[in-house]
Parts: sequence; structure tokens; C-alpha cells
Amino acid sequence: MLVIGCPGSENLARKIANKAKASYSTLSVKKFPDGELHIRFLKDVKNKKIVLVQSFHGNINERIIQTLFAAYTAKDLKVKKVILAAPYFAYLREDKRFKPGECISARITSKLFDVFDKVFIVDPHLHRIKKIKQLFKKGVRVTSVKDIASYIKKNIKNPVIVGPDKESFQWAEAVAKLIKAKATILEKKRYTARRVHVSKIHTDLKNKNLVIVDDIISTGGTMVEALKQAKKLGPKGVYCIAVHGVFVNNALQRLKKHGKVIATNTIPGNASRIDVSGTIAEAIKNV
Ligand code: R5P
Repeated sequence: MLVIGCPGSENLARKIANKAKASYSTLSVKKFPDGELHIRFLKDVKNKKIVLVQSFHGNINERIIQTLFAAYTAKDLKVKKVILAAPYFAYLREDKRFKPGECISARITSKLFDVFDKVFIVDPHLHRIKKIKQLFKKGVRVTSVKDIASYIKKNIKNPVIVGPDKESFQWAEAVAKLIKAKATILEKKRYTARRVHVSKIHTDLKNKNLVIVDDIISTGGTMVEALKQAKKLGPKGVYCIAVHGVFVNNALQRLKKHGKVIATNTIPGNASRIDVSGTIAEAIKNV
């Protein structure tokens, strides 16, 4: 097996290769003067199982093209299998047509990745579409809940786990179960991409550390609203934990004013303190 780190995901890919006892190489991506991409494998891939590690953050659209070019090239170069390990897969939140004429991006993006023999995604945002196979024919869901649970166990005493909405409660509940803590859920109403309202918390938080667990922090709007409600109940400490720390528009700086912010390293960044490389290595090792 050869693990290949795509731009922006090299560090995590190296760790995965190490833990899966596989070789490692980097995908070479350059740009022509007009902006077209030039993609090249730097190691021979013929007859190998190759795992492209690509997290779709930052320049998401360009990363999609890079990964698809690499996958088709790999097939052309006669690999045994081409596998995608996506620590973070974008475009999964638009899973229905909310307004007439809208594009259901989750359906279209997933279809584009049919070229892969298998697609491993860490905690995909599955909401109205419940099973990963309803989107990706060869999809496998990998979860970071054990990594998050052990972080909480090691670092936070007396936690109460809160899910800021129905969509994310699945993560809060799973984490709470693993560490035998209480889990509670908030009601969220989203008005726009940036404006949300979150209901009151009906749980005693005295002498407790409040840990809000969400799958994604993007603008931070959901977390900020949840924190406002939570702080009224005077918890001992406040923590925000996300699987995927997208943190657009200074979201991390804004959230840090309210509490400690921690994410996994599916997206690299200053808050990415929970390592999921072992979980991904374990998932891909028998493909
Ligand atoms: C949506 O339902 C997700 O679980 C997150 O709550 C949401 O994506 C967070 O987005 P934002 O940080 O922009 O509020």
C-alpha cells in the first residue's frame, strides 16, 4: 500500500502511512501560468493499492479537481486500487433542495467520486441522508468519537456533553456514552448561513464542565449561540469540541473569547489537538 498526501494534507497522510505501516509519497501539484493544474505521481503506482489522503478545506473546489485528476491518472497508470481517505469531505450539508432551483451539492459531489474503488470519510455530515452508501456507492464512514472521548477523559473533569442541534446530537451522544457522561441537546433555528438561534439548556451545570460537541464549526454561529445559553447556567468551565474545525471568518478567535476550543486534525489548524491518524490507519489497513 502506498499512502499519498495531497496538498494541505501531507502531515496527516504521513502519520497515517506510518501507523498503517505503508509507504508514503506526496502528490505533486503545480500550476500552469493560466491557472490550469499539473498533477504528477512521484513514485511508481502500477499494481499498487494507493490511498490518496485529501481533506477538502480551504480551497475546496480546487482540491476536488486535484483529487479527481489524481484518481483518473492512477487508473490510467494501472493501479490495483485507488482509495480516497478524506479526513474532511465538504459539500455534504446541502442534502436537499431547500428552495426551488437549488443544486443538491451532496448528491452531485459524491457522484463525482465514483471513480474511486473505496471512499473513507471521517464523520461525514449525514443528516437527512442517513447512510453513506446512499451517497457514495463505495463509501465507508469512519468516526472520530473514540478519539474525542479519550481527549475528554484525559483532560476534562466532570463533563456534561451538549449537542447544539438535532443534527449534531449523534456525535454528542456517542461521545457521552463512551465516557459515561450525561448528554443533552439544544434546539437550533437557522435563519441564514451566518445567523442561528439556540434554545435554553435545561440541565444543572453547577460544578460541571460544559462540553459542546459538534461535527463542524464553520462560521462559529452555532457554537456562539450555544455558549451564550450555557454560560447563563454558570458552569465551571466551557469547552467547544468539533470534529472538523473549518473556522471561517475568524471563527476560532471569536470562540476563544468564550471558552476553550478544540478540534481534531481532520483539518490542520491551531485548535487541531485531537489526532485521528490512528483511526484512519485502522480503517484503511485491510482494503
Ligand atoms: C449543522 O447542522 C452542523 O452540525 C453544524 O452545527 C454547523 O455546520 C455549524 O455551522 P456554523 O459554525 O456556521 O454555525
